Amino acid sequence: MTVVLRSLSALDLPVLEQLHRESFPEDPWSARSFGELLALPNTGGLLVQANMDPLGLLLWRVMADEAEILTLCVRPPARRRHVAQTLLARAMDTFPKAGAHRLFLEVAEDNAAARALYKGLGFCEVGRRRAYYRRPGGMKTDALLLEVMLTDE
Ligand SMILES: CC(C)(COP(=O)(O)OP(=O)(O)OC[C@H]1O[C@@H](n2cnc3c(N)ncnc32)[C@H](O)[C@@H]1OP(=O)(O)O)[C@@H](O)C(=O)NCCC(=O)NCCS
Repeated sequence: MTVVLRSLSALDLPVLEQLHRESFPEDPWSARSFGELLALPNTGGLLVQANMDPLGLLLWRVMADEAEILTLCVRPPARRRHVAQTLLARAMDTFPKAGAHRLFLEVAEDNAAARALYKGLGFCEVGRRRAYYRRPGGMKTDALLLEVMLTDE
């Protein structure tokens, strides 16, 4: 199996919508939303494919000396094969070249898989938004703001 990471383009919009819906069925992003984000000058992303089949995506923005992960997802059948880790490691390598010294993201407190992934990459909790994400049955869960330093500066 040949795994390839490549930059997102406007041609990927339907695939991005499909990948996002599979991982976030309760709040999927449309192809149009992805297109509007990717049209911004400070936004970029990666798609990972195996034998041309899309496995996952990562979208980010860089503002001044900070980068932010906007969304990340891996198709359920492709999980636990270090796809997300590879995507993030590649992106974290490139952010300092764009001037970013630190990376932020938000994760739901009840998202154990994502929190374990980010912990393994060195992220630390630096903030919290109470009851930020809605859950079935009227429940809510906090959003954790995580940060990792990308350089020594
Ligand atoms: C979170 C997500 C992106 C992880 O993708 P993935 O490709 O399966 O993750 P990786 O295989 O790169 O995992 C790397 C490490 O993270 C941790 N991890 C990942 N998934 C885990 C899980 N379900 N349970 C426990 N630890 C997990 C492990 O330490 C893992 O390393 P290991 O397999 O050697 O133990 C994926 O589960 C997903 O798309 N979830 C739905 C969308 C989502 O929650 N996105 C993030 C929003 S902030």
